[in-house]
Amino acid sequence: IATVDIDLSGIEEGMSVTVKWRGRPVFVRNRTSREIEAASATPLEELKDPIARNANLPAGSPATDLARSAGQHRENWLVMVGVCTHLGCIPLGQAGDYGGWFCPCHGSHYDTAGRIRSGPAPENLAVPMFQFLNETSVRIG
Ligand code: FES
Repeated sequence: IATVDIDLSGIEEGMSVTVKWRGRPVFVRNRTSREIEAASATPLEELKDPIARNANLPAGSPATDLARSAGQHRENWLVMVGVCTHLGCIPLGQAGDYGGWFCPCHGSHYDTAGRIRSGPAPENLAVPMFQFLNETSVRIG
């Protein structure tokens, strides 16, 4: 399936769903304001991978929290391919030293914007192409 549509209406703040897209898991998370603040307050110099890795933005865009999210007024939504950029395990949500995702395979810690912060993974979790069809549904792919 080239695209997959997700109904966001049941995903409350602090919750997430995992859907399958092109054989891979995609995480869709409705972030809390605390999670957004934590990621926004992180200086870009502290990031291991300073690139947004967001397929919806020009290549090389900086990995600000906004650039990782669904954008202005939708900063709460985070859509990411749930595949660790180290060797492809599936990271666990709301885990790890930065409260984002933790990959138990070799200990990579991602923050609340899905950016790699420590461990062997080289890149931030990838943000796939997606678009909002309306306020409560998003199409991935
Ligand atoms: Fe995730 Fe190695 S596959 S840390």
